Amino acid sequence: MVNLLNGEDGRVLQLTFTGLEGGIFRIFIDDPTKRRHSVPEALDGEPETVPISVQYTANEINVSSGSVSAVLYSKPFKANIYNEGVLINEINSQGKLVFKSEADDEAIALDFVFPNAQRAYGIPLHAERLSLRTTGVGGLNPYRLFNVDHCCYAVDSQDPLYGAIPVLYAHSTSVSSGIFWLTASQTFVDITNGGNYVGAHIISESGVIDLFILPGPTLAASARQYTKITGTAPLPPYFAIAHHQSRYSYRSQRDLLNVVEEFDNHDFPVDVMWLDIDYTDAYKYFTWNYIRFPQPEIMQQTLNETGRKLVVIIDPHVKVEEGYFVYDTANANGYFVKNPDGSNFEGYCWPGLSSYWDFNNPHALSWYSSLYSLENFPHSTDVMFIWNDMNEPSVFDQDEQTMPNYLVHYDGWLHRDVHNMYGFMQTKGTWDGLMARMNYQQRPFILTRSHFAGSQRFTALWTGDNLATWEHLKVSFSMCLSEALAGMSFCGADIGGFVNDVETELLERWYQAGAWLPFYRQHSTTNINRREPYLYSEEVQVIFRKALNARYAHLPYWYTIWFEHERYGDPVIRPITYHYAQDPNVLDIDDQWLLGKDILIHPVIQAGAQTVTVYFPGGANEYWFDLEHSRAYLGTGYTTISVTRDFTPVFYRGGSIIARKDTPRASSALTHQDPFSIYIFLDSNNQAVGNLYCDDNQSFDYRSKKYIYYQFTYSNNVFSGRSIDEDADFNCLSTIGNVHVYSLSGTVRRVDMNKLDINVNSKFEIPLL
Ligand code: NOJ
Repeated sequence: MVNLLNGEDGRVLQLTFTGLEGGIFRIFIDDPTKRRHSVPEALDGEPETVPISVQYTANEINVSSGSVSAVLYSKPFKANIYNEGVLINEINSQGKLVFKSEADDEAIALDFVFPNAQRAYGIPLHAERLSLRTTGVGGLNPYRLFNVDHCCYAVDSQDPLYGAIPVLYAHSTSVSSGIFWLTASQTFVDITNGGNYVGAHIISESGVIDLFILPGPTLAASARQYTKITGTAPLPPYFAIAHHQSRYSYRSQRDLLNVVEEFDNHDFPVDVMWLDIDYTDAYKYFTWNYIRFPQPEIMQQTLNETGRKLVVIIDPHVKVEEGYFVYDTANANGYFVKNPDGSNFEGYCWPGLSSYWDFNNPHALSWYSSLYSLENFPHSTDVMFIWNDMNEPSVFDQDEQTMPNYLVHYDGWLHRDVHNMYGFMQTKGTWDGLMARMNYQQRPFILTRSHFAGSQRFTALWTGDNLATWEHLKVSFSMCLSEALAGMSFCGADIGGFVNDVETELLERWYQAGAWLPFYRQHSTTNINRREPYLYSEEVQVIFRKALNARYAHLPYWYTIWFEHERYGDPVIRPITYHYAQDPNVLDIDDQWLLGKDILIHPVIQAGAQTVTVYFPGGANEYWFDLEHSRAYLGTGYTTISVTRDFTPVFYRGGSIIARKDTPRASSALTHQDPFSIYIFLDSNNQAVGNLYCDDNQSFDYRSKKYIYYQFTYSNNVFSGRSIDEDADFNCLSTIGNVHVYSLSGTVRRVDMNKLDINVNSKFEIPLL
């Protein structure tokens, strides 16, 4: 710890410098004379510290740990960070450090220069491209991080949206690093793209400076460093990565079950049905409208017969109504956010006049969590999961439709201090509640709108109230890619756009693209035409069905990379530059992406498109296979390919082995015993390798070694397999059915494997000639 003297007013601040595992440095600046807000909740536990070596000279402190080092200068304060001897970050070189401690002004600010960086990514959520633009010129505002309910948002904008994750990456073909600026107050980020450097100037309204330096040296390393401190997402239950169907609102039990029946009649797979606010009695959460939903348990049982689940919405506003048990208890115990005079804050949301949970109050949070128990949530069963919406929080009658800054939370913190973590805390409470409900045995599933750093440990997210436009389809890719780099891989947009009726062609393309984003749910607003897929002509249904079946066929691959995400921290979807960092042409690409490292997707996002221009990365020795047309492309850059209405440009990397389940079924649960089809795509050396993960699809038993993590290899015409984790075992219900081998020369071979078992002892080597 060192003292930092403020030259202007003589105040002494304390700077603590800590080395963390993974080469991460933490710089913490506080004012010992004033209590200020920090956000340990965002971190996945207290980060493990590592010893650092420190050397003092008259004007410098030299710190190092492994390959990462820092030089701290005094008069004026400045810090330079190096990784492997290369300067990666100059902190306060522009002298913009601010740390105010006045009663009504607690602003903090700092500037950063990332030498040799060419692009800035991160700081979601904005309806913006992947590469952040230079702000302050051409009318571009700073990127604002302030959770707000913003229906029908414009695209290409720095305006704030529902989530705020203050992690920024500076990236180039030669070096990458990042910073994580941990504060929950409103934050502005100015970006300068200087050509051979990236500059960032960050200003927040309150809090301490709690800065984590992610040293890279690659984008992948920086992203993993970020999840090292904030956590990775837990492996989702299998159903959650399948297809979801929602509507604001399915207004009756009969309506909802009828939709499922129609899905079945028309062979559209669906795993999860959703109930929006109208299932409740007058928008009082944890109650039911019995006129519309007379038998909620029977409804859930019916869904469960085909392995389907139900998700219901629980918002954070509580109707002000004496006699409503949630209001009464929360009111009696002081669980609501308060006005400065100590009375409950009241504002308008769906139920009319409402008070709002103070999720920062640990007693309130634990009582809130307890409402999710099977005893307390009427008619809940263990196939019911949760959607937390309006949790920025949304308050209709207030400025910017959210809570005023001066409101008071538990322990005296102002809303200003905790604004961006409000929804995060709700999902933490929901997670705790679902975990307890299922005796810590079964994996919860939660969807949230508002989110913050660390939210990935509890919840998936969607991109809120988008529009039924081609621009909104396109921007959903970069929004989810930015989120994925910020730890939140479980992201998707409302298929078809939430607001307005959707043109059929756009809906077709949206189903096709959405099949390759992690969260796949059709949802649409009230008072517009219903758009369940079976309502369209047979010709259109064929297109939807193909997209949905493609999603289901690849679920084993999705599930495997989700497992790998939990273990290693790599995002599930990745910008092309994540794996092809040396290629300068891919730095800005955000209309195509990689699923894991082996599947490249370039969806069609133009009306009437006859062709799309795909960038194939990797060079002449990298092959990308188009299964549908039995052809391959070399990784030599832009190639224009023809597209038809039913074709989604999706390519498999030569050198990969991908496990699929190709038999169409009504829900993912019905595929669990189907055999795997193994697709082998040979590289330029006629080799390939790929992993497959399987477990019981729903419980936490995988954390006690009850799973199979298997590796397939193809080399010298021999196909072999073995368990990667030899200390883990599980009886995967599926066997290997058949194997397809693709090579550049066009030879396609299909070999029947006679239902080969996959378990820890099954090791095989089979010549495929
Ligand atoms: C706003 C959400 O963004 C939307 O998805 C939902 O349908 C409505 N709230 C009603 O709950």
